[in-house]
Amino acid sequence: MSELVRFSKENDVAVITIDNPPVNVLGPGVPEALAGFIEKLENDASIRAAVVIGAGRTFVAGADIREFAKYRSGEKKRPGTLPLLLKIENCRKPVVMAIHGNALGGGLELAMSGHYRVAVPGAKVGQPEVKLGIIPGAAGTQRLPRLAGVAKAIQMCVEGAPIPAQEALECGILDRLIEGDLLAGAVAFAREVAAKPAPKTRERIEKLGTAESNAPLFASARESARKKFRGMMAPLAAIDSIEAATRLPFEEGCQAEQKLFNECLFSDQSKALIHVFFGEREVAKIPDVPADTPLLPVNRVAVIGAGTMGGGIAMVFANAGFSVLLKETDQAALDRGLAAIRKNYAGSVQRGRFTQQFVDERLQLIQPVLSYDGFAAADLIIEAAFESMDLKKQIFGDLDKICKPGAILASNTSSLNIDEIASATSRPQSVIGTHFFSPANVMRLIEIVRGKATGKDVIATCMQLANKIGKIAVLVGNCRGFVGNRMYHAYNRQAMFLVEEGAAVEAVDNAITAFGMAMGPLAVGDLAGLDVGWRIRKESRHLEKPGVRQPLAADRLCELGRFGQKTGAGWYKYDENRRATPDPEVARLIREWSAAANIPQRSVAPEEIVERCIYALINEGARILEEGFALRPVDIDIIFLNGYGFPAWRGGPMFHADLAGLKKVYERICEFHRLHGELWEPAPLLRRLAEQGKTFADYQALSASA
Ligand code: 3HC
Ligand code: NAI
Repeated sequence: MSELVRFSKENDVAVITIDNPPVNVLGPGVPEALAGFIEKLENDASIRAAVVIGAGRTFVAGADIREFAKYRSGEKKRPGTLPLLLKIENCRKPVVMAIHGNALGGGLELAMSGHYRVAVPGAKVGQPEVKLGIIPGAAGTQRLPRLAGVAKAIQMCVEGAPIPAQEALECGILDRLIEGDLLAGAVAFAREVAAKPAPKTRERIEKLGTAESNAPLFASARESARKKFRGMMAPLAAIDSIEAATRLPFEEGCQAEQKLFNECLFSDQSKALIHVFFGEREVAKIPDVPADTPLLPVNRVAVIGAGTMGGGIAMVFANAGFSVLLKETDQAALDRGLAAIRKNYAGSVQRGRFTQQFVDERLQLIQPVLSYDGFAAADLIIEAAFESMDLKKQIFGDLDKICKPGAILASNTSSLNIDEIASATSRPQSVIGTHFFSPANVMRLIEIVRGKATGKDVIATCMQLANKIGKIAVLVGNCRGFVGNRMYHAYNRQAMFLVEEGAAVEAVDNAITAFGMAMGPLAVGDLAGLDVGWRIRKESRHLEKPGVRQPLAADRLCELGRFGQKTGAGWYKYDENRRATPDPEVARLIREWSAAANIPQRSVAPEEIVERCIYALINEGARILEEGFALRPVDIDIIFLNGYGFPAWRGGPMFHADLAGLKKVYERICEFHRLHGELWEPAPLLRRLAEQGKTFADYQALSASA
């Protein structure tokens, strides 16, 4: 029998150990071996009960997600997990599932087919399938409501977040928490229940409710899923499947679940979300920075500048338990920064995210300073002062004199050249960009910007540290705007052009949000402040090619003092609650400015709005890839999902391009090139891949093997 699953005996109790590192997925060989051992224990008269346990760090983390593509392509048939689970449930001897780490997806489904479940207090159980664009596919939507009740099953299958063991005990998923040695506790539990009739989850109906009691649950679950998971099919499918559990006998409920599972599995959404699952892990892998690169110790952090970003960054580190020095130039600025931090924390307490005690402890960790006192002991210094090269060079020159050798000197610059900043020091190997996104304490992304001299230990330490503070880091090269903002610039510019060509402001934003973006680009502009882009455009005019089209209306709005939300008016007008409404005056002004600039007016269809904006992203992304500023297409995708509100269920711009077909994308870009000029020149990489009938995924695979 396979080594993936082991069978042993503790006198009268069989112990079945699943040992499929790293996370014991139910990959090929595991279900078969489990089934064999269930038969073995049935046939061994000396055995009265069994314990199923996971080896290593966890119980079972679910089905093997890597196999899903093979089921879709027809290369493999999906293994019948359902019959295995029925076999376990039908076993005449009690089977106790012993959980540590996680029981997720197929792991929880396996656990629910056992007659009892015990767990260590630190364990978690969950049905996270929605996060992969699917629903539980091994009767999870049928057994979970029977154990935990309909409302809990809806919550777990729709949200996908695992719940802690204590909560699982209270709602009936677990039967006991085991302090101390799990295996010993589970074996003792198995002996306690050995003589009792083994309860079958599928036969339990007492928590399934009635049609009347369930109707409002399903109605409100659907309403909130439509809002919270806008555009996603799996959360709604999970609700349908749980509803089937409440209406149909178990076997028919399972058939309904299979049908919904397959619809989800074969959807583009599931392909995209699985791409994201592996992508989030892939971005941590940097070809020339091996996983065993020695890390630099980081215990003390210092932040320069207590403005919008510095304050947020200080909170992020304090939340993770680091002590943080927060430096400003004068007391008033420091007071303002600290007041903003306190206000932010107070909001978190009000919303129930943090307790007052947690916040008090975090505030203790942030030490405000007006000088470089204490900086000599800092392991990591993050500069978040104004976006000015002269200022940053001066600060890095100071840091070079004050900081200890080996300290990491990081800049939060959103656009400036990291090598030039590093040139102000005698240790460019210690200088790196850590580009947090606003608000820093909320947004998950950090672009880690690699300068030409940045040390591998510095890169490895920052990538790992990002994880520690609950962020996702993507390594990028040192180009203007780095990866995210460089691409966003191309996208945003198209949105501005479209309104100048006749599309209404709200029509542009509506088309983009209907595509799935969290916000439309023009509303984002109003939120961030139109003056930011205006200032950058004024400062970088000398870098633009003469004759190339520039946005017009955005600058004019700024000249009128319309900076967006902060002035109560931008592309939209805002009421005192910052609620936006379209402004007829803006529509009139744009028509006037466009006429004066001889921009022909026409009606623009929502499809064109989406293509113009999203294909601009893709074209710039292809350029960035070929120039080597992003390591892989998936790195770009992860940046856009975590920093720019791109819908995860579309997988990111590069994955979206693959699904749309690069030939189609390329041809449309060629058409835009003919119609709208040189900003649309197709990226050579995109042209090559389109002509060869290849995808960005092929390019990634080829680059990996090169
Ligand atoms: N299938 C295939 N590979 C998996 C996997 C899975 N279900 N879960 C994790 N892995 C891989 C990861 O890709 C990673 O591989 P790598 O080292 O090559 O990058 C490795 O296992 C370790 O994973 P993590 O780095 O994520 O390890 P952590 O300790 O940080 O986290 C975990 C462990 C919480 C279990 C996390 O891996 C996780 O959330 N896994 C996915 C769980 C899940 O979604 N399960 C449902 C699967 S679908 C299903 O079961 C359908 C069923 O209803 C029929
Ligand atoms: P901000 O203007 O809100 O804050 C900058 C702060 O730095 C001010 O409080 C200022 O008093 C302080 N400061 C200036 N010189 C200093 C010095 N020598 N020592 C200590 N403090 C000093 O600016 P913001 O928005 O926080 O930006 C900071 C940096 O982060 C910039 O480089 C910016 O490009 C970047 N960034 C900004 C984002 C945003 O959305 N605001 C997003 C990502 C990066």
